[in-house]
Amino acid sequence: MEEVRQHGLVHVHRRGPTIRKIVDAFYPKVAEHPDLKPIFPDDLTPVADKQYLFLTQFFGGPPLYTEKYGHPMMRARHMPFPVTPKRAEAWLGCMRRALEEVIPSQEMREVILERLSGPAHFFVNTPDDE
Ligand code: HEM
Repeated sequence: MEEVRQHGLVHVHRRGPTIRKIVDAFYPKVAEHPDLKPIFPDDLTPVADKQYLFLTQFFGGPPLYTEKYGHPMMRARHMPFPVTPKRAEAWLGCMRRALEEVIPSQEMREVILERLSGPAHFFVNTPDDE
């Protein structure tokens, strides 16, 4: 596990096309999810493009997001949207399914999900019973 933790992400971030595939598999699931759909725009293309830039740098690749949009401040950027604990789980659920389509190694999928799970819960800004 430690081996994958150290080398798995290096492997992923050297591969822009893999991150693009993850993002492209992820947003159609968001668009269909009853808890997520209402807070996202109808056209998910711009957010998918930003997510590609962000995840590239998040997983240790070149700082593409910062170069274009400045400091990520991701929690702050989510403040205009009601991110509930339920939505954090929904987001991670969509990501899990996207990863299943793109990343063959279960161990690597778990490492990636684990890295995203902290931020997802950290971005929660609204209780479930809003
Ligand atoms: C916890 C559940 C999450 C929800 C419900 C959520 C929801 C959203 C929403 C509604 C937007 C704005 C769409 C728009 O522009 O109108 C957004 C943008 C974004 N989200 Fe999330 N998000 C979540 C978690 C995450 C996580 C874990 C990451 C990455 C680690 C992430 C990365 C981004 C990025 C990069 C953007 C684009 C920011 C920008 O406008 O520059 N989100 N998210």
